[in-house]
Amino acid sequence: GDVAVLVPAAGAGIRLGPGAPKALRPLAGEPLLVHAVRRIAGARSVHTIVVAAPVADVPAVQELLAPVAPVTVVPGGAHRQDSVAAALAAVPAGPEIVLVHDAARALVPAELVESVAAAVRSGHDAVIPVLPVVDTVKEVCADEVVRGTVDRSVLRAVQTPQGFRRSVLAAAHAAAVDPLTDDAGLVEKQGVPVVCVPGSEYALKITRPFDLALAEHLLTVRP
Ligand code: C5P
Repeated sequence: GDVAVLVPAAGAGIRLGPGAPKALRPLAGEPLLVHAVRRIAGARSVHTIVVAAPVADVPAVQELLAPVAPVTVVPGGAHRQDSVAAALAAVPAGPEIVLVHDAARALVPAELVESVAAAVRSGHDAVIPVLPVVDTVKEVCADEVVRGTVDRSVLRAVQTPQGFRRSVLAAAHAAAVDPLTDDAGLVEKQGVPVVCVPGSEYALKITRPFDLALAEHLLTVRP
């Protein structure tokens, strides 16, 4: 395998309601992070997995993942971007393709991991999986009055894993100033073209209680 996968899993996940850090919330009896790591490890090209866990949970996460796959666990940071940077710093020499995958996208198919990695391998420096936007999208003012309607045909909803040539991701993180919510955003700021590939509905981000219920159902359809 020529691929390292970084898994930021250090977020609190307040939008899911009170409880454990989001990546450790149970889905069908197992933490989201366990589902995510098992699927990532099932992708043939994956050589290294580095998880960024909440500082207080590093030993527990190491124990949790040991039976699932060989992983390195590092303490995460205050923002997602800090957690990704910490994980990137722990990747050994070797893998030249680095993917970043949110633990919250617990049902990511191994095929999506492979297709993003393959697009990087074929020569693209930065690759993101996307879906078309199905809802009509409005821009609103502070008082919730509509300012206008956005042309959704040019919009894409972005998922993870996002894939990068290793040197490109490292340079983008080294140059980063303001925290962004995704790694492709940092790479864009460096002027690097970011290429879209088809995403998967199974890679939904489990953010709210509704998503958790949907994910439980999806697991019964396609374990
Ligand atoms: O909060 P949000 O859903 O955007 O988080 C996306 C991913 O980033 C989650 O997997 C979360 O655990 C991770 N994260 C992190 N470190 C933080 C904040 C979020 O690893 N400080």
